Amino acid sequence: TMLTRVKQLWELPESAATDESVFLKRRQLCQAIAAGPILLGSTAGGAATAWAAAAGDPTADLYPVKRNERYTIARRKLTEEKYAITYNNFYEFGSHKRIAKAAQKLKIRPWTVTFDGLVEKQMAVDFDTLIRHMPLEERLYRFRCVEAWSMAIPWSGFPMKALVDFAKPLSGSKYVVMETAQQKENMPGLKQFWYPWPYTDGLTIEEATHELAFIATGMYGKPIPRQNGAPLRLAVPWKYGFKNIKSLVRFTFTDKQPVGYWEKIQGKEYGFWANVNPKVDHPRWTQSSERLLGSEKRVPTLLYNGYAEEVAGLYAGMEKTLGKRLFM
Ligand code: MTE
Repeated sequence: TMLTRVKQLWELPESAATDESVFLKRRQLCQAIAAGPILLGSTAGGAATAWAAAAGDPTADLYPVKRNERYTIARRKLTEEKYAITYNNFYEFGSHKRIAKAAQKLKIRPWTVTFDGLVEKQMAVDFDTLIRHMPLEERLYRFRCVEAWSMAIPWSGFPMKALVDFAKPLSGSKYVVMETAQQKENMPGLKQFWYPWPYTDGLTIEEATHELAFIATGMYGKPIPRQNGAPLRLAVPWKYGFKNIKSLVRFTFTDKQPVGYWEKIQGKEYGFWANVNPKVDHPRWTQSSERLLGSEKRVPTLLYNGYAEEVAGLYAGMEKTLGKRLFM
């Protein structure tokens, strides 16, 4: 039957089966096969089957989106998809890198995004409605984790400015705080009660409306996989990876500088600004170079992760008062 074929093809764990994915229509199944599952042999974490994109995703028809050639990457190759979707940080699914399989439990529909705080009017919007109002494009961005590994990703999505304009913040609003979904039944990491759930992080309004701030809804020309933050996550390429908060359900506008998840855990090592700087080391390791995901190669880290020309103006004069805090 269709059901067994699906299971054989995808090795869909029973626990991860949603009504949607089990009862795929034939047409969708064919699309899914064309998109191609990434079947891995045994990996360090044991045999893993990771999905390149959610089969039956209601936004699948939107992809691939047109590439904006303004945002490409010089002298660096795109990371192979199989690495970007199997080596992740997503603590809601475990505090290690091989969470891709566990993350298939994330329930991504229905998905409501709330806008509140200092806004003209509080709103709760269905993601499928929201995305169809946003100007979608593809951008090639670098990505630099604070742990000194990096990748280069073709994100699909829209400028965060479009979302801020949609939210209509009041003039007194200075920051936007983002929040990740909390699904107790599906996210085993939430049982680690000593972590300050929900995962949150924030940007100044100037940062959030900067042309480089991007909300990613897809990668590699498909809807974004769960392990990478479906159905929408932040991509701010000049900041350390932990600012790139996943699976967003809330945008709160405020006049107070927020304290994010990592700053709450270890404020001496992870701060609000978290701009990439090879000259400001992490207290426990150097930030002067980085390992390219999928290779053993190390390359020098660049100021603002290679985006200094675009973003340095955001921080003009601030190094005097903030010092190293601007870069950690
Ligand atoms: N968002 C949530 N909700 N939970 C997380 O644990 N980890 C962050 C960031 N966003 C994290 C998160 C960190 S430390 C990194 S490096 C990136 O996600 C990793 O993104 P990737 O898995 O798509 O490479």
